[in-house]
Amino acid sequence: MLTDKKIILGISGSIAVYKVADWIRALRRAGAEVQVVMTEAAARFVAPLTFAALSGNKVYEGMFDPNDAEQIPHINLAAGADLILIAPATAQTIARLAHGMADDLLSALVLANKSPVILCPAMNSNMYLNSATQNNLAQVREYGYRVVDPDSGSLACNTEGPGRLVDWSSAKEVIYSALSQQDLAGRKVLITAGPTREPLDPVRYLGNRSTGRMGFALATTAKRRGADVTLIAGPVTLPDPPGINVIRINTADEMAGEVLDRSQDMTVVVKAAAVSDFRPATYSANKLKKATAKSTLDLTSNQDILKTLGKKKLEGANPILVGFAAESHDFIKEGWRKLRDKNIDLLALNDITADDAGFAVETNRITLLDQDGTEEKFPLLSKEETADLIWNRVVDLLNK
Ligand code: CTP
Repeated sequence: MLTDKKIILGISGSIAVYKVADWIRALRRAGAEVQVVMTEAAARFVAPLTFAALSGNKVYEGMFDPNDAEQIPHINLAAGADLILIAPATAQTIARLAHGMADDLLSALVLANKSPVILCPAMNSNMYLNSATQNNLAQVREYGYRVVDPDSGSLACNTEGPGRLVDWSSAKEVIYSALSQQDLAGRKVLITAGPTREPLDPVRYLGNRSTGRMGFALATTAKRRGADVTLIAGPVTLPDPPGINVIRINTADEMAGEVLDRSQDMTVVVKAAAVSDFRPATYSANKLKKATAKSTLDLTSNQDILKTLGKKKLEGANPILVGFAAESHDFIKEGWRKLRDKNIDLLALNDITADDAGFAVETNRITLLDQDGTEEKFPLLSKEETADLIWNRVVDLLNK
């Protein structure tokens, strides 16, 4: 995603300086070239040498370094940048930017720059909450700079409150959004993810091996592309992705309620969840005891949520429907049957017999089927890359 992107990391002087050392490594692992610019104060916390070694590039500090004079660093660095990330952004640096000042290299290059600017503030809570800082943040937002609100918690100065530098996972999403095409902007997208659990008694349930990774990857990538995302997730251990409305459910029945209530307002519904087709016919409020329990289980069918949505579509309902099918045999034939039977616009097929695709792994290898009869097979990819391919096809359908 960040291959060949040139990111300027502007570091200003807060105790959180040491945390961004890891961010440089993550950016480089994702393919970016990182150019570090430090303010004078930042260089007092951690030596520029650390950032030079981690970024693989010279660190720029001053406007008037005689070694770089002929390069006019504030102009040339700005000209080559795809994005400027300022982390940690101190009250002082935010104030400089809010007032259009250009009295150090970092502020001068932000002024000379035309690429997206992201600020990750980090400071003492009182400094952060001070009206002067809040007004400055409102001002830089008005200039179009993106501000990633700091986390709340215990701070290095022994106080509690907002002001902690955000985690890399939150900063990363804002960076990826800033560099993504906003081709789902304004689109309301509903995604289901994970397994469902159908309880038998207070300790036992029917479930499946889904981990939710594919659905969460779809939610994250849709958000990056500008969508307004609602994620309805079964019981999985994944944390809520930043900026997404996450609704946690347990049973297929609860999932059906949440999906059907919302589907009419949506542009796209993606059913990546592995929904249980059946539930125990009766639920025992007391734990079943082996001395008295039956050795067979009576089951009742759950509603097929996607099929219900497909029927509503025949009656004129809106959303584009994307389904998933995990198959162990006859998988293309089964895929076409499900696409037609459930009236789905796009179906992503997995062969679950492969060790590297489908359930409980980081990668996927899908074949996409659509209503025009197109069958497109993709290679083994990460779940995020797979999700992006699905969104490319959804965008094509939306533009049709
Ligand atoms: N699905 C659903 N509601 C159900 C069962 C499945 O919405 N009760 C959705 C899944 O989220 C998926 C698609 O239907 O997008 C296909 O699910 P799958 O389990 O492969 O298909 P089934 O219809 O259950 O068919 P089978 O059990 O015969 O493979």
